[in-house]
Amino acid sequence: MSNRRNFVTRSGFAGGLVSLMAGAVLLAFSGMALAQTISDGCIDCHADNYNDWKVSGHPYKLMKADIAQNRPIPLPSGYDWDDISYVIGGYKWKSRYMDLDGYIITNDDSAEGGNTQYNMLTGKWSDYHADEANGTKPYDCGRCHTTNWVANPDPTDLSGNQDGMAGIWGTFDQGGIQCIQCHGEDHPGMIDTSAEACGECHIRGDADTIPASGGFIRHHEQYNEHLAGAHGSTECVMCHNPHKKSEWSIKETAQCGVSCHSAIGESYAMTSMADYGVECKDCHMPYATKSAKALGPHQGDLQTHIFYIDTDPTANMFTEDGSFVVLDDNGKAKVTMDFACQRCHETASLDELALYAKGFHNPDKTLADIGLDPGLSGTWWNPAKSGEGFLLEVDQNRFLYASFYTYGPDGEQTWLVAALESSAGITANVKVYIPSGGTWGDPSGADTGIEWGIGTFTFPTCTSGNVSLTPNAAMMGMGYTAVMYDLERILPSGIACPTFVNNEMAAAMK
Ligand code: HEC
Ligand code: HEC
Ligand code: HEC
Ligand code: HEC
Ligand code: HEC
Ligand code: HEC
Ligand code: HEC
Repeated sequence: MSNRRNFVTRSGFAGGLVSLMAGAVLLAFSGMALAQTISDGCIDCHADNYNDWKVSGHPYKLMKADIAQNRPIPLPSGYDWDDISYVIGGYKWKSRYMDLDGYIITNDDSAEGGNTQYNMLTGKWSDYHADEANGTKPYDCGRCHTTNWVANPDPTDLSGNQDGMAGIWGTFDQGGIQCIQCHGEDHPGMIDTSAEACGECHIRGDADTIPASGGFIRHHEQYNEHLAGAHGSTECVMCHNPHKKSEWSIKETAQCGVSCHSAIGESYAMTSMADYGVECKDCHMPYATKSAKALGPHQGDLQTHIFYIDTDPTANMFTEDGSFVVLDDNGKAKVTMDFACQRCHETASLDELALYAKGFHNPDKTLADIGLDPGLSGTWWNPAKSGEGFLLEVDQNRFLYASFYTYGPDGEQTWLVAALESSAGITANVKVYIPSGGTWGDPSGADTGIEWGIGTFTFPTCTSGNVSLTPNAAMMGMGYTAVMYDLERILPSGIACPTFVNNEMAAAMK
């Protein structure tokens, strides 16, 4: 008998069944019921699916302690493996533990209690029903976590509980989502590709609601999200190979910007965000959903399947009491920009993000839709006026500062400097100063507050602009006159335009 078969025996199957299975492997063909229900029996003929499935989350959902202890799963304080019957989860987000009677452990041995849910992404413990005493929280979750679950209508009748354990209110053949849970026991297995089939477990409450709590969508409701989302009329398996772990499961035929949305894919590929590796799913499937612990103010730990983005900065994703996602008249939902954008652009306001988000993929979108942008910073001139020009700086708060290197009426080199007074769209109104009084190596005597006049910059695009400067009466008296002319960029921008960045984030992603 191979090691693999021994492994199966250890996972709780009678030795006799295992040897029977060796025969079944050779005999099982069309029209015959498989004499066994163990997924390991499928490997001989469906090795690819088996090997994919084996490292995905489905088989691990409910593990006996003797299997679980071989995985990197810590125990609540005061417990060792001899006190544990099963571990729930522990694959990706969190693990919970069942005592020897099958009850879910709700308190550890510390003075404050609780601390019975291990959160894998943060490495920290949190409370799971800490208000309930140990030995009172039954395991009635098997419908979605096990194979062939039969709920016990009267859990006090222990004969309907797994191995007669008081805390497990039903029976099952195996923990985890084995092949036959989806394919049935007759062979060749039935195949149900509908989203409803996945929705038997990836659901919470009524499918036409999206339950929420604590500022996040709740977990195991991908079907609810999906129905209210942009792909609600499609199957889950349009995108997912259901045998594979989610990260590896997206089919070659379901690459968003290639297979289905190629025009958007092509234009998005030209943005600097794409260069930085920001993918479609980073905005369209943000972490608005939470299983174990939030990873940030705008980051749960599960990617939502809503896909639509709400570009209204005043929108609230949740109902007033926070217990559901708002749906429109067609039952559709949208994720708000706090999740879609602020996870990365922490310091950008929703109003500012909205300027960029509205019509995000419109290739004709210009600065006129956005206004003064840091990407305008750089060196500008009019080639017909070679010898003078502007150094411009627009910061993240859209404050503009400009220096004009030019000549005075007397023919001497002169610098004028301009600072933003007010702006409207792509127009910046500035006040202009003419510093004077310093000398070479010692600017301390300079008066920087001498007013020269006023001016206006406009930037219809990232590479073209216009400037007008009007001297005040005193400066006119000295021979200055009003000027107005077109500008263009001398050097290409060092940063993308339009742009605004959280530099820390940008650096981290480089
Ligand atoms: C001895 C080899 C063998 C074993 C063991 C076996 N299968 Fe199959 N399976 C086949 C063959 C051959 C076909 C295709 C023949 C057919 O469609 O009738 C098939 C077809 C299927 C199909 C349908 C595929 C389709 O395209 O319609 C499913 C689902 C399936 N098997 C699941 C399983 C599962 C689950 C197990 C384990 C419980 C299993 N098989 C064990 C050989 C095997
Ligand atoms: C979560 C449900 C689920 C589980 C668990 C599952 N399958 Fe499948 N399987 C499906 C669905 C749905 C399809 C159809 C996929 C598609 O159309 O892309 C499928 C397709 C198949 C097929 C036919 C197509 C192909 O990929 O060859 C075979 C064979 C198969 N599964 C075998 C298995 C075996 C063996 C296991 C266990 C190792 C298994 N499945 C576990 C849902 C499941
Ligand atoms: C019988 C219940 C059940 C059904 C049916 C089911 N799932 Fe799951 N699924 C689960 C559970 C439970 C988990 C969590 C497993 C874990 O983390 O240990 C899960 C996890 C997943 C994951 C994330 C874990 C990973 O492997 O990366 C994906 C993706 C997934 N399911 C896709 C699907 C798809 C697609 C279908 C339909 C073809 C489907 N599931 C049908 C119960 C189910
Ligand atoms: C309606 C089906 C369903 C029910 C009922 C259900 N779960 Fe789950 N559970 C899932 C699915 C699907 C996932 C994985 C997808 C997700 O979290 O979004 C999951 C994930 C989990 C995880 C995290 C798995 C991991 O590997 O990180 C734990 C722990 C868990 N459930 C515990 C429970 C407990 C305890 C109960 C009963 C009190 C329960 N669940 C009831 C469907 C269900
Ligand atoms: C339009 C494509 C698409 C459809 C349809 C779709 N998914 Fe997904 N799903 C994805 C992508 C992309 C990911 C992220 C994979 C990754 O982590 O790289 C994902 C991730 C997941 C995850 C893991 C989430 C996480 O953050 O780890 C689960 C569970 C899941 N999908 C279940 C489902 C279920 C169930 C359905 C149907 C009700 C479904 N998906 C429909 C594209 C899709
Ligand atoms: C996964 C992280 C991430 C998310 C989510 C994200 N961004 Fe970005 N974004 C970046 C990074 C990194 C840069 C830096 C690129 C650069 O230096 O130009 C950037 C740059 C930008 C730029 C300027 C770059 C360009 O393409 O010209 C705009 C505009 C922008 N983000 C808007 C948004 C909006 C609006 C959202 C939400 C709908 C969003 N971003 C969501 C990471 C993200
Ligand atoms: C930086 C965030 C971000 C990234 C990355 C992103 N999108 Fe979008 N996308 C948006 C926003 C915001 C909207 C909503 C625009 C509106 O409502 O005016 C949108 C809208 C859409 C739409 C609806 C139709 C339309 O043109 O408005 C589709 C389809 C779409 N995106 C597909 C994609 C694909 C495919 C990718 C990857 C190639 C992608 N998106 C990458 C932010 C992003």
